[in-house]
Amino acid sequence: MTTQVTLTQFIIEQQRSMPGASGDFTSLLNDIVTACKRISHMVNRGALIGVLGSAETENVQGETQKKLDIITNDIMVEALEWTGHLAGMASEEIDDPIDIPAQYPKGKYLALFDPLDGSSNIDVNLTVGTIFSILRAREGIAASVEDFLQKGTDQVCAGFVLYGPSTMMILTTGHGVNGFTLDQDVGEFILTHPDMRIPEKTNEFAINMSNRRFWEEPVRRYVDELMEGEDGPRGENFNMRWVASMVAEVYRILTRGGIFMYPFDTRDPSKPGKLRLMYEANPMGFIVEQAGGAASTGRERILDVKPEDIHQRVPVILGSKNEVEHVVSYHQDSE
Ligand code: AHG
Ligand code: MN
Ligand code: MN
Repeated sequence: MTTQVTLTQFIIEQQRSMPGASGDFTSLLNDIVTACKRISHMVNRGALIGVLGSAETENVQGETQKKLDIITNDIMVEALEWTGHLAGMASEEIDDPIDIPAQYPKGKYLALFDPLDGSSNIDVNLTVGTIFSILRAREGIAASVEDFLQKGTDQVCAGFVLYGPSTMMILTTGHGVNGFTLDQDVGEFILTHPDMRIPEKTNEFAINMSNRRFWEEPVRRYVDELMEGEDGPRGENFNMRWVASMVAEVYRILTRGGIFMYPFDTRDPSKPGKLRLMYEANPMGFIVEQAGGAASTGRERILDVKPEDIHQRVPVILGSKNEVEHVVSYHQDSE
């Protein structure tokens, strides 16, 4: 029988190799795992327990919330607020940072999350996920908004859980990227995809083509050249995918390469991109870089963006390094 490495064992062993590590982080990660197992169960039960459909409410982004956006947010908050490891939380679904209730101790980390990514896909039974990012806090002090406004390079850990045919957790603590599959019978995440690397050569791209008329010239130029295939300047054919769940898109890129773009567009001048820096772009950017890929806004490395607002949106171009650099070079050409 082959030995199976659980996520807990993996993290504890990683922690042992770090001098001075206290075990707090391992414990925090375990609490996130518990929350995600609960979410996995809810998402899986779906219509059987009446959790599908719209909640008829709006979040701070002006997006109509699904019932599961709210339920999954509450699961994350309830699983993390009492633990003593956090000084505060921030969620895509909640306007202001979430305080740790007064009766609980405040810890040395901050957790930021998109509790349900791809929620437009929940009612059509496609893959959705939870994305999270861990930052350091001023220990023992309730976090202020400013405490959250750290660059992506400051992340201690980032990960996402995919609720697809299998439930999987993808994780980085800055030492590569590892993938774990939930064994539903045993209730443990098992290391199934050690040291994930994004293939350099790729012929697949992901972008919502219906927004083409709103893109800037460099993105239009790049995508048009891919579409021209063997007859165009690239001299080869490209394939396109768009799941509309960033978690599924990034997982595909981690396994078989490709480029994902939600670029700047001119639809709404108040939104320079659709995806959120703190809950989507930074954690995914960290993971993609750790797997040998790249993540850019087109003009700046995502992890170097200085956040100004916890709900800030940024253009996102990430995936196989060569292709991301290609798009970035077209931005440079146009400036
Ligand atoms: P969320 O469900 O958390 O709001 O995020 C959805 C995001 C992302 O996962 C996906 O890549 C993108 O929105 C899809 O956008 P379109 O519907 O505009 O294609
Ligand atoms: Mn999302
Ligand atoms: Mn979401």
